[in-house]
Amino acid sequence: MTVMVTGGAGYIGAHVVAALAATGRSVVVVDDLSSGRRDAVPEVPLVRLDLADPGCVPALVTAAQEHGVTAVVHLAAKKRVDESVARPLWYAEQNVGGLVHLLHALVQAQVQRVVFSSSAAVYGSTGPDPVDERHPTDPVNPYGRTKLVGEWLLQDAAQAHGVRAVALRYFNVAGALRPQLADHGTGNLVTATIAALRRGDAPVIYGTDYDTSDGTCVRDFVHVQDVAEAHLAALDGLEAGTAPDVLNVGTGHGTSVSQVVERLTALAGRPGSARALGRRAGDPPSVVADVDAIATRLGWRARYDVDDMLTSAWAATAPQVGARTS
Ligand SMILES: NC(=O)c1ccc[n+]([C@@H]2O[C@H](COP(=O)([O-])OP(=O)(O)OC[C@H]3O[C@@H](n4cnc5c(N)ncnc54)[C@H](O)[C@@H]3O)[C@@H](O)[C@H]2O)c1
Repeated sequence: MTVMVTGGAGYIGAHVVAALAATGRSVVVVDDLSSGRRDAVPEVPLVRLDLADPGCVPALVTAAQEHGVTAVVHLAAKKRVDESVARPLWYAEQNVGGLVHLLHALVQAQVQRVVFSSSAAVYGSTGPDPVDERHPTDPVNPYGRTKLVGEWLLQDAAQAHGVRAVALRYFNVAGALRPQLADHGTGNLVTATIAALRRGDAPVIYGTDYDTSDGTCVRDFVHVQDVAEAHLAALDGLEAGTAPDVLNVGTGHGTSVSQVVERLTALAGRPGSARALGRRAGDPPSVVADVDAIATRLGWRARYDVDDMLTSAWAATAPQVGARTS
């Protein structure tokens, strides 16, 4: 039994691959290496292909058959909100088209279990209370809409083709199991703050006049290792028939932007160095997961706290001893 992990060379995917390998499961990664890195998953077979290319289907069927694939974790996608606003058609091709091609191949290869990377972005604006999976979906950008369409597509494929799928709606993922698996993006609060501190710049806080405890936005930050383990629980849940269509993956606790930035500036030895700017358009004041469903249905709960997560993220980006500086 082999698990195919699409996007397995990316940040979250490489953690999923490591978690699967740690439980003795065999893995094949499918990735175009557009943002992923081969050296994040050096010990597993990798099929390099672009899922957005309709011509990828035969190669996917062959890979599934040759490796004896029985389940898929589908992480491969583009994830930048600003880019999705500028290039919505390309985002649809990548994120929705990629899933369509994958499903064509899975139906042909008779692989029925799928864990799908969805996002809290499907909820859009939320209030101060934790959101459960019944909260109305109303994504406010093209990226979030590609994720919601993906969820619907999987539900339709379940009806028509017997696919059994669970969409995991991740909240704010950060941290790293080890330095080789660090998040090299700069598109979220943790990575952007760390990048600024490593450059010697002042990190930025957008908006300090929200109706929250300290005036900055509140988010549910979840350690990437916990997220990886949620995929193991989801695969088990698909096998046991206990996985519903969608599940939140978060901690159930909110942490403010100011608290995150203060902790990272302290780790950098520069407490109090953050700069406050005005609000950014489209940032809801508070987005926190209700995580009762995943605990009840899959027996999964986050094990790490925000401090573990930030410490690991900071440590993973430390300059390597002996690394070239020019
Ligand atoms: N990072 C987060 O906080 C977060 C939150 C919610 C949801 N997600 C979702 O989780 C998934 C993984 O995110 P990540 O943070 O690891 O991103 P990432 O960019 O590090 O990983 C994405 C991987 O998919 C590959 N890929 C992209 N397009 C592809 C294509 N057309 N064909 C084949 N491979 C392709 C990339 O090379 C990369 O290895 C994505 O679906 C993302 O939308 C991430």
